[in-house]
Amino acid sequence: MQWLLGLAEEYRNRLGDGHFYKELALSSKPEHIRGWIRQLYYQSRDFTSALSLRYAMCRDQDFQGCFALHAMEEVDHCEQLIDWMHKHGFLESDESPTSVPATLETIAVSAYCFRSVLRESSAHQVIALNLISEGVSYDFFSKVNPKLEALGPKVGRYWQVHKEIDQKHLAMGLDLIPQCAPDSPLGKTYARIAWEMATLYGRMLDSWGGILKHHNVEPSILPDESIQGSSISRELAVR
Ligand SMILES: [Fe+2]
Repeated sequence: MQWLLGLAEEYRNRLGDGHFYKELALSSKPEHIRGWIRQLYYQSRDFTSALSLRYAMCRDQDFQGCFALHAMEEVDHCEQLIDWMHKHGFLESDESPTSVPATLETIAVSAYCFRSVLRESSAHQVIALNLISEGVSYDFFSKVNPKLEALGPKVGRYWQVHKEIDQKHLAMGLDLIPQCAPDSPLGKTYARIAWEMATLYGRMLDSWGGILKHHNVEPSILPDESIQGSSISRELAVR
């Protein structure tokens, strides 16, 4: 579904223009990135857990292989990040990675992923956890890795692996979900999921850059022409 890949890329590009990446470009010493590194721990931990849970919960044979492979390829990422944080002074040897609390926006991204796994269809999970999550992740590591190298901390396996495989992960499962046109009822539902997930990532990145007031991503494909912009009317429009 080329149109859905294109829509996801459009949303990702808008996140790429956001405050977080502007701040990243201005970072000139490791202290400037300390705040979001601690948030990345939560994102890494919960996303890896959501992928494992997705596989464990999956009763749909068509998706089991895909979900197993994805979970397996991510399974030790959080431990790799913790090792890297210790090695480069972002975490003291006796310090818990949770000594800095997660922002509510970081929690909201994880909550959406867990909810998708627990309550939604395999198609919903593919759009939320692969197409958008892995796409956002690929963009993130593509931009962050060169900056980290410029600031000094050596980019370890955790960072390199993401850059290498997240591009593959973003399209995983897309061929398995029911195919549809963008203007079909199902297409509009797909577009809504992509927009919801991208919006939550945008808010998460804003919170990592210290932004409290969010610049929202406007939906490119509306679920219904009668939509007035509120999330409640949007929800009602697709039911
Ligand atoms: Fe990934």
